[in-house]
Amino acid sequence: MRGDLERVLFDEPAIHRRLDEIAAQISSDFRDRELTVIAVLHGSLMFVADLLRRIPLPLKLECLSVASYHGNPQTSGEVIFKLATATPSGGGQIPLPNVAGRDILILDDILDSGHTLAAVRKALETAKPQNIRVCVLLSKKKQRARNVAADYVGFEIEDEFVVGYGLDFREHYRNLPYIGVLRKELLEEPGK
Ligand code: IMP
Ligand code: MG
Repeated sequence: MRGDLERVLFDEPAIHRRLDEIAAQISSDFRDRELTVIAVLHGSLMFVADLLRRIPLPLKLECLSVASYHGNPQTSGEVIFKLATATPSGGGQIPLPNVAGRDILILDDILDSGHTLAAVRKALETAKPQNIRVCVLLSKKKQRARNVAADYVGFEIEDEFVVGYGLDFREHYRNLPYIGVLRKELLEEPGK
């Protein structure tokens, strides 16, 4: 798999050092608060697991599964909620976690066009949380289709397609322990 990468951007120690810093910041900001973490799967899986083990606060974890680009590196703009954890929400169309009155921290892998986080944020707002903050591992430096900002960002990156540490291309490369730029010619191959 390493051969499919143009270059490695962040190796495992670099990721872990940055997670130490973000976790310290979040732990300080959410001290004495009722934190509910909303993980946007699947891309954030590694990030969530490694980050939360560094946050020594009582917290709840809920997961949403969202699809927005269907194996095509150009995001479609349509965001589909595929699954949520079982916490009852009171019978809405999408089974969202019950977050009324709580401080929410949304964790996602990457902020690209902004469609995903805008949709997740909007859906969660209907459940009347106290406050919503957003943390992403990666943020692409680009003009976004949706005006969403993250409160905590692991790394700012150029507008390139990256894989590894949870991030996929057509469901591959999630298990790489580092993050790298996928070779451009692989992006252009027809999907299987
Ligand atoms: P959005 O364009 O901000 O809505 O991002 C949608 C989703 O596309 C992200 O949560 C990722 O799962 C995926 N995505 C966006 N950019 C990349 C990338 O460079 N590599 C892998 N996945 C990406
Ligand atoms: Mg993905």
